[in-house]
Amino acid sequence: MDILKIRNDFPILHQKINNRDLVYFDNAATSQKPKEVIDAIDTYYKTINSNVHRGVHTLSQLATDAYEKTRNKLQQYFNAKHAYEIIFTRGTTESINLLASSFTPLINKGDEIIISALEHHSNIVPWQMLCERTGAILKVISMNKKGELQMDAYKKLLSVNTKIVSVNHVSNALGTINPIKEIIDLAHQYNAVTIIDGAQATPHMQVNFQELDCDFYCASAHKMYGPTGIGFLYGKEKWLHKLPPFHGGGEMIKEVTFEKTTYADLPFKFEAGTPNIEAGIAFGTALDYIQNIGIKNIAEYENELLKYATDRIQEIDNLTIYGTSEKKASVLSFNLNGIHPFDVGSIIDKLGIAVRTGHHCTQPIMQFYNIPGTVRASFAFYNTKEEIDRFIEAVKRAQQMLS
Ligand code: ALA
Repeated sequence: MDILKIRNDFPILHQKINNRDLVYFDNAATSQKPKEVIDAIDTYYKTINSNVHRGVHTLSQLATDAYEKTRNKLQQYFNAKHAYEIIFTRGTTESINLLASSFTPLINKGDEIIISALEHHSNIVPWQMLCERTGAILKVISMNKKGELQMDAYKKLLSVNTKIVSVNHVSNALGTINPIKEIIDLAHQYNAVTIIDGAQATPHMQVNFQELDCDFYCASAHKMYGPTGIGFLYGKEKWLHKLPPFHGGGEMIKEVTFEKTTYADLPFKFEAGTPNIEAGIAFGTALDYIQNIGIKNIAEYENELLKYATDRIQEIDNLTIYGTSEKKASVLSFNLNGIHPFDVGSIIDKLGIAVRTGHHCTQPIMQFYNIPGTVRASFAFYNTKEEIDRFIEAVKRAQQMLS
């Protein structure tokens, strides 16, 4: 991989922040976009802006073709059986909310839903809301100090009452890669539905839906070098047929009368209203970009960055790393002992370095470690070891200033 050439594809990386070259280490929050993706949005508005699936006129057909092309690319890239098993949503959060809402009539009092201690709030709160509506019970797979799920505890939670198991593929706060194939297979032994929050996995590794055999998988474009406001829900056809629609409106109907409405076929049954058309098209461009570099190359290089950063940060005394699982994606979460993460983040921002500080929408993980939050550096394939060196120096300086 020619990193310097790749960096030239990302215009935002070449600016100064607080008079220093920007070091962008907040990729788990959102990734930066290559010029191709930005241009795809621009070109759409300049040449084919029109509503999709509606018009017989040429522009509408061109917009529809470009938008639907992304659905086909997603099907192929993630190996779904059918393109209509890919539902466009606003992102992972909406995908999970869609499921928690649409599963309501299928869940009864006393049914159990299993999530894990490593979940983002978006894979906790929608299930709590479903439990409030239905009287179902939420169970949580515990974790150990290294930030790994305790599979023995999971096996004990599973029972004939388990209806849904919803876990993340990669923890956004700690970087842990969860053994989701094993989690899915065990859940299926109890006929439970499996849902994977893949927001933090899809930017970093190859994911194969049919091989995993998950019932649902959710992800967001903006963490995959694509635009914000678009993501998808993959669902097995049999489940998508069983579930009622999420939103009602245009596009999702076959026929409407005041007495009764019949719903459109998949995937449109779940896609009410005018979608985020330009983002959908540019998501396809982002996918092309990833495929041109190769997700295996990306994973290998990011692992090298993570290892380098993890080794170097241990030069610093009085520092605790959170998330020390063997299997990790490129997230380095830590605290300088006795110093609030917000203070560290603010000082290194003055030195041009962008990291996320706080609870990362995972308050239960912070409660587990009994800390207010962490400093989180998260890497992408356009980052470099030189940037990590600057980051380490900046953290050392913050420690000197704040001790
Ligand atoms: N979920 C995103 C993060 O981890 C926003 O930062």
